[in-house]
Amino acid sequence: MSPTIERDLPPDELADVQAGLLPVRYDHRMQDVFLAQIDRLLRPGIRILDVGAGRAPTIPVGDRPAGCRYVGTDIDAAELAAAPPGAYDLAVTADATRPLPLDETFDLIISWQVLEHVSSMAGSLDSMHRALAPGGVLLAQLTGSRAAFALVARFMPHRIRVAAMSRFLGHADEEKFPTSYDGCTDHRLRLLLAGWSQVQVIPFYRGASYFTFSQPLRRAYLGYENQIARRDVRALATHYLVIAHK
Ligand SMILES: C[S@@+](CC[C@H](N)C(=O)[O-])C[C@H]1O[C@@H](n2cnc3c(N)ncnc32)[C@H](O)[C@@H]1O
Repeated sequence: MSPTIERDLPPDELADVQAGLLPVRYDHRMQDVFLAQIDRLLRPGIRILDVGAGRAPTIPVGDRPAGCRYVGTDIDAAELAAAPPGAYDLAVTADATRPLPLDETFDLIISWQVLEHVSSMAGSLDSMHRALAPGGVLLAQLTGSRAAFALVARFMPHRIRVAAMSRFLGHADEEKFPTSYDGCTDHRLRLLLAGWSQVQVIPFYRGASYFTFSQPLRRAYLGYENQIARRDVRALATHYLVIAHK
């Protein structure tokens, strides 16, 4: 799998925004918002845990500050093993829904597009809370369970979903992991994060890329998405960025 998050690439939907085919909220990549939040927190010696890091650490070695300790964890040992040599100071195979088998704590936990895959959001937030040092921060981006494309995906067996995304969207099979969507709503996230000291759940309305195989369908979808974006119907957002302080 190629890294799903890469720096210094032009926004891939900008041309469609400039051509009037997509609304201006598509003029940047969602990952750039995530990376900007990470950049604000980076400092020499920072201890980072990348949850669901797989074969592509969210922060490549060359972009880490001096003295940074970078631990990667994933439920799938083969994914961690496929990461470039030296990607992690320590790679730990573990299920994020359970207390992580680590005898150290972290200043920053990052999790990019992983929490929609876990079987328990409550368990995952609890294990990440335990792994944070006092004052530590969790930055996580996930897909909303009520996004139109997620609702369709939830009713499809994983195998069919992978085949459909390969056929209609050209997604590589190995980039697709089974999804659970447990607790992937604004309401549930806020409830589960109630005990944290500071919490922001930022909604995005960015699902058009799932409809590129049919321009009429994409237009119809955008009519719907523009409405929920204008009214900021957070329950129906396509993605959420969570910024939570221990
Ligand atoms: C969409 S990939 C994202 C990988 C990487 N963060 C990236 O951006 O390239 C989702 C990852 O979450 C991992 N994963 C799924 N369920 C998990 C769990 N319960 N605990 C830890 N990792 C999990 C998968 O093995 C996979 O590597």
